[in-house]
Amino acid sequence: MKGFTLWLTGLSGSGKSTLAREVEAALLERGCRVEVLDGDEVRQNLSAGLGFSRADRDTNIRRIGYVCRLLSRNGVVAIAAAISPYREARAANRAAIGRYVEVHCDCDLETLKARDPKGLYARAAQGEIANFTGISDPYEPPEHPEVVVHTGREDVETCVRRILRTLERLGLVPGVDAEGYRPEEEAEIARRLEDLGYL
Ligand code: ADX
Repeated sequence: MKGFTLWLTGLSGSGKSTLAREVEAALLERGCRVEVLDGDEVRQNLSAGLGFSRADRDTNIRRIGYVCRLLSRNGVVAIAAAISPYREARAANRAAIGRYVEVHCDCDLETLKARDPKGLYARAAQGEIANFTGISDPYEPPEHPEVVVHTGREDVETCVRRILRTLERLGLVPGVDAEGYRPEEEAEIARRLEDLGYL
């Protein structure tokens, strides 16, 4: 099986890590080799010492992309979960990696502020965290992601299904339960991939 990179981008708390782990579990079950690169974890090792300026974020994203490229070309599914707020850095990774599928974890700020499991939005609002993405720092949403999941209103299972089905439709992972998809789910996935020129 060929490796590829699944790149989850979105604001802090938008569900990237959760979805990464769920997709990982599903792909392991299908016999894929999988590695997850999670922003919070990467910042403790590979990117230790980096902050949240644009330059540091870009360095972080470039490093994650580099590892994803190495893994992808060796038959591994690399799943990256990082805010990755800048389009240019994401586009550079897409170009370097080749087999690259972008997932926008889209969630409205009100929901993120209400959930706020790490209390970061509250602290950012108080001015305790500078340059906080979505509050006092930019987030450039993807213009042409292969998948958009609305994590504020769709449950985890729905999001995971859409991601897996897209990977199946792209021929990147073997399908298992195609008949389990509703026609409107199928149509939405097909429409997006057609718009992107895949189908
Ligand atoms: S990225 O911008 O370089 O892609 P990354 O995903 O690695 O970010 O790290 C984001 C995590 O760092 C957040 O989930 C949050 O826990 C923490 N964090 C700390 N400070 C900030 C900040 N100023 N902006 C965004 N996230 C921050």
